[in-house]
Amino acid sequence: MEDVTLRPKTLQDYVGQRALKAKLEVYLAAAKGRSDPLDHVLLYGPPGLGKTTLAHVIANELGVGIRITSGPAIEKPGDLAAMLTHSIQEGDVVFIDEIHRLGRAAEEHLYPAMEDFAIDLIVGQGPAARSLRLDLPKFTLVGATTRPGLISSPLRSRFGIIEHLEFYDPDELADGIQRDARLLGMELNRDAALEIGRRSRGTMRIAKRLLRRVRDYADVAGDAQVALGRTREALASLGVDGRGLDRRDLGLLEALIDRFGGGPVGVASLATSVGEDAATLEEVYEPFLIQLGLVQRTPRGRIATDRAYEHLGRPVPVRSSETTLFEEPQ
Ligand code: ADE
Repeated sequence: MEDVTLRPKTLQDYVGQRALKAKLEVYLAAAKGRSDPLDHVLLYGPPGLGKTTLAHVIANELGVGIRITSGPAIEKPGDLAAMLTHSIQEGDVVFIDEIHRLGRAAEEHLYPAMEDFAIDLIVGQGPAARSLRLDLPKFTLVGATTRPGLISSPLRSRFGIIEHLEFYDPDELADGIQRDARLLGMELNRDAALEIGRRSRGTMRIAKRLLRRVRDYADVAGDAQVALGRTREALASLGVDGRGLDRRDLGLLEALIDRFGGGPVGVASLATSVGEDAATLEEVYEPFLIQLGLVQRTPRGRIATDRAYEHLGRPVPVRSSETTLFEEPQ
C-alpha cells in the first residue's frame, strides 16, 4: 500500500505541529535515556491531522513495535486482555484510535493496565469466580480522539502527556505534499503545492487526497511537471472552492442560510437537513467552518456569520440587536 510507505517515520520528517514536536523530542529523549517506556499519550484534535501517523512516528523513534486498535473494536474486556497479554512486547506502543468509544467495562480494565501494567481477569463463574491479576509487559498507550470531552476523567488522568493537534497552515500542507510528491516521483511546483495547501481546510489528509487527484489530472494530460494552472483546473473539477470548501460544506452553509434563516438552529435539525448525523457534523464539518469564521456555535444553536453570506455571494442580512451573534460559551 502506497500510503503506508509515504508515512513519515521520524519527527524530523513529520511536517508541522512544531510546538508538539518540540515537547515530544524532549519526552522521547528522556524516556530513552532512562530506558523507561514513554508515559501514556493522549492526542486529540479534528480528524485528518495525523494522530495515527504521529503514533507510528513515536513507536519508530522509540525503536519499538506498535499494535493498532480502536475503541469500537474493543467490545469486551477480554479483547483488551487478549491484546495486552499476547501481542505486545516490553516497551511497545499500543495505539487506540477513537478511544472515546471504548466500552465502559473495557475502560475499567485499562486503568490498572495503564497504571500498574497489570490486568485483572475473572476466572470461573458464580461463587467459584475469582480475580486473577496478570502482569503485562510495560507499554505506552497512545490514545487518539476527536472528542476529548467524551473521555472520562479517570481515563484522562492516567495519561501523562495530553496534546492537541492543530490545523496546518498552507505552507506546512505544501511542505507535506511536496514530500509525498517527491516520494511518488512527481514534480510539483511550489505554487501548485501552495494552492492545494490553501484549499485543504488545514487538514493534511485532505491535502494528500487532493494531491492524488491532481496527479490523476496531470498524468492524463501528460504533464511532466504539475503546474498551478492544471492544479486549479483539477480542483475546480473536484468542486473544491478557493477556501477549500467542498460541495458538502457549501450545502451545509446553504441549508443554514436558506432553510433556517441563518440560524440559530440546533445541530440535530441542521444535520438531518443535510443528511448527516450530528456527530459527523460536529466533528468533521464544523471545526473548520468555525475556524474560518463562517459558522458560530451559540447557546441557542448554530448561526451563519456575515462572512458566510458573503462567501456564498448572498446579501448580508441586517441584524437587530436581538440577533447579534453570541460568543461561544466557555
Ligand atoms: N501525514 C500525516 N500527517 C503528516 C505530517 N504532519 N507530516 C507529514 N506527513 C504526514
